[in-house]
Amino acid sequence: MHVKKPLKRRRFNYMETILVVEDKESMAEMLKETLESEGYRVISARDSLEGIRYLKECRVDLVLTDLKLPPKNGIDILKASKEENPLRPVIIMTAYGSVETAVKAMKEGAFDFITKPFDTDHLLMLIKRAIETQRLFTENILLKEEFASKLGFPRIIGRSEKITSVAQMVQKVASTKTTVLLLGESGTGKELFARAIHNLSNRKHYPVVPINCAAIPRDLLESELFGHEKGSFTGADAKKLGKFELADKGTIFLDEIGDMDTTIQSKLLRAIEEGEIERVGAVKAIKVDVRIVAASNKDLEKAVEDKKFREDLYYRLNVFPIRIPPLRERNEDVPLLVEYFTNKYCLEIKTPVKSISKKALDTLMNYHWKGNVRELENAIERAVILCDGDMIMPEHFILSSMFTQGTLETVAKEALRKAETKRIVSALKETRGNKSKAAQILQVSYKTLLTKIKEYGIEA
Ligand SMILES: Nc1ncnc2c1ncn2[C@@H]1O[C@H](COP(=O)(O)OP(=O)(O)OP(=O)(O)O)[C@@H](O)[C@H]1O
Ligand SMILES: [Mg+2]
Repeated sequence: MHVKKPLKRRRFNYMETILVVEDKESMAEMLKETLESEGYRVISARDSLEGIRYLKECRVDLVLTDLKLPPKNGIDILKASKEENPLRPVIIMTAYGSVETAVKAMKEGAFDFITKPFDTDHLLMLIKRAIETQRLFTENILLKEEFASKLGFPRIIGRSEKITSVAQMVQKVASTKTTVLLLGESGTGKELFARAIHNLSNRKHYPVVPINCAAIPRDLLESELFGHEKGSFTGADAKKLGKFELADKGTIFLDEIGDMDTTIQSKLLRAIEEGEIERVGAVKAIKVDVRIVAASNKDLEKAVEDKKFREDLYYRLNVFPIRIPPLRERNEDVPLLVEYFTNKYCLEIKTPVKSISKKALDTLMNYHWKGNVRELENAIERAVILCDGDMIMPEHFILSSMFTQGTLETVAKEALRKAETKRIVSALKETRGNKSKAAQILQVSYKTLLTKIKEYGIEA
């Protein structure tokens, strides 16, 4: 019989529960006593099946398991625990200490292993570290989530068939590691969708790292992407991690990829093909596990034709292209976006939510949104500030080429564009998309028709 030692005072009144799976009675007793005297709650299992059952039935914060456990073994316990809760630390005790079993356990995601016979202080230290690491990790995740909800996690607004099908594609591809290429005019929401892809993936607890390839000078871009070693060039006075390394296990968002210099394109191609990167000035490549989402508002196919973009890289990126349609092709989304942005900006300047007059909404629906959703968002932000009453009127909008404002020339151009678009669309419908027939009906040359289709953003 032994006298129970008093429980040590612990920092938290929360008692962590440790599942001990050990078939040798004396060892199991010793562990239970040691751990309880440190203030842990202990559940003991005598074989692997009992252990797996407890994992399912009880709340367990950490697993301490023997390796040799007939009929199964400690690796099975480890796997079962990972399946239940991938974050829960598992420590393996082994009498063999063979490198192979240890490596296998670590590969399967064990927190650590300890060789019998061991010093109990060493074991207690391991356990403390495992619990602390796990706590920090979850705390970080929680912080991130709180942050996201504070920022009002961006929602994707729209009900048009076009935007719905984009959202569906995003949802389908998100959970894979497939490279996604987002194509669309400026302000259509490429970054928004890139973040959505990351947030819908199982990489969401790791970083999404954006980099704007157009905004960084060529000489700096390589080290921004891949990092550099100390002293690798003048000015490199410290080692620097590149965006690829920072995005490890997460997603890198290569924005404006069409503007990337061709020398860097080759290095990027290598990174994608080999799954490894080389810091500037490094002797060894490093493996990284990064999901790539790229975006461009340029016609990459044309850039390839013009030899400004590497064809092989283009094919590597163009695995899953998603075209985000311009706002003017999905007018039915305008009212929803207007409502969303009006709420957002009224909330931001802390005024009661304003409504919008029918006339103002009509104007917005018929406007040619060259800057797409971003232009609409800016227009609403301004209108909310300018409007003193509770209804937003047409005069609160300052749009670059409004029908009701601007010079005769811009008004005429806008009217021409609208009328021609309508007629071209109907001609294309009539001919089931046959452009040369449509050109005949419209009595313009094939080339003129193509130019107009492109200029007005008419889709096939
Ligand atoms: N469907 C949408 N619902 C809600 N907000 C949207 C939507 N599309 C775009 N936005 C908003 O419009 C703004 C512009 O979007 P974003 O920055 O993603 O566009 P982009 O295509 O990356 O533009 P650029 O090519 O200019 O970088 C952002 O504030 C974004 O949150
Ligand atoms: Mg962008």
